[in-house]
Amino acid sequence: MDKMHILVTGGCGFIGSNFVRYMLSRHPHAITNMDKLTYAGNLENLKGLESEPRHRFIKGDIANISDVEKAFADDTDIVVNFAAETHVDRSILDPDAFIGTNIYGTYLLLEAARKKGVKKFMQVSTDEVYGSLPPAGKFTEETPLAPNSPYSASKASADLLAMAYWKTFKTPVVITRCSNNYGPYQFPEKLIPLLITNAVENLELPIYGDGLNVRDWIHVEDHCEAIALVLEKGEPGNVYNVGAENERTNLEIVTSILDILKKPHSLIRYVKDRPGHDRRYAIDNTKIHTKLGFKPGRAFKTGLEETVRWYVENRTWWQSIRTGEYLKYYEKMYKDR
Ligand code: NAD
Ligand code: DAU
Repeated sequence: MDKMHILVTGGCGFIGSNFVRYMLSRHPHAITNMDKLTYAGNLENLKGLESEPRHRFIKGDIANISDVEKAFADDTDIVVNFAAETHVDRSILDPDAFIGTNIYGTYLLLEAARKKGVKKFMQVSTDEVYGSLPPAGKFTEETPLAPNSPYSASKASADLLAMAYWKTFKTPVVITRCSNNYGPYQFPEKLIPLLITNAVENLELPIYGDGLNVRDWIHVEDHCEAIALVLEKGEPGNVYNVGAENERTNLEIVTSILDILKKPHSLIRYVKDRPGHDRRYAIDNTKIHTKLGFKPGRAFKTGLEETVRWYVENRTWWQSIRTGEYLKYYEKMYKDR
């Protein structure tokens, strides 16, 4: 793809920061990265890029019109919207920020993109918009939307708005719906980094319900590659599911992590289930494979081993997060559960 100016939102979070690094190392594009730096956003995730002239960081809120106008002041060719409140459990504790950022924030970006006449607007969505699967079958792009948490309902709302901008205004929207990501820089409230960091510190590993809920795991770099492909070749007005055919129960995940770290399985603690807990996710990625040639490159076993090693070797990164607000949240979520 020719050199473009990309507005990335939420580029200081887990997937956004991996995407910024991925794009700058493989493509000639310039990136403006607007992030509100919520509890989940961290400039440390972009360490090393301080002197990179093709990356410009702006602290700003996608749900604030003047911040959005500032972000679009550059010659924006493409928008990639990662910015979101993303943790299902927090959306159960308090949905408010999810509505503001995920729905209203997406609307402001779409409106600015329409006025600017951008070449592409990528809405980074999630397989959770499809709801929960029985033991058989997979999510295709035609699966009806049936979100079950305030988080997934807010993401489904944003998807519908984005598609309405394509249908009504021909804003060139593309939507990706990816399964669960893992890899470096994931905030340690999500399952895999929470289990790794607790195990390293010999703390109990909380598993909701019977531990048999299934998630379909993909390495974050494979997700970044899929987004880059959709930016280059994806057809406006289309949804692309993204997954790596890696279904695992939560129990399989926790025992694998304990085995890699050579820690006892007795650290596992079964706790009260998440309300409205989706039982199973599984992605059918036939469309992105056949239409765009996407093939995830990472085997889960080595990807998980490398991820565990990354957390072991980057202890200061997560130890500085697991203080203050994090400890308050952890206590609220897990104490007496
Ligand atoms: P994350 O929580 O790690 O990062 C979110 C980032 O958005 C943070 O840097 C935060 O500061 C920023 N942000 C939040 N509200 C903002 C606002 N109002 N304005 C500007 N910035 C704001 O999330 P993630 O896991 O990296 O997810 C990124 C995107 O990918 C989200 O849209 C999420 O729904 C989607 N997604 C995530 C997964 C996954 O497994 N993590 C899977 C599929 C899709
Ligand atoms: O499927 C994509 C989605 O994956 C993204 O859209 C979300 O942003 C992302 O957070 C993730 O949602 P999940 O709810 O699947 O991820 P989480 O890491 O919170 O939980 C994964 C599974 O592990 C789920 O079945 C709940 C369970 N779990 C989670 C935590 C935090 C536990 O058993 N114990 C825990 O402490």
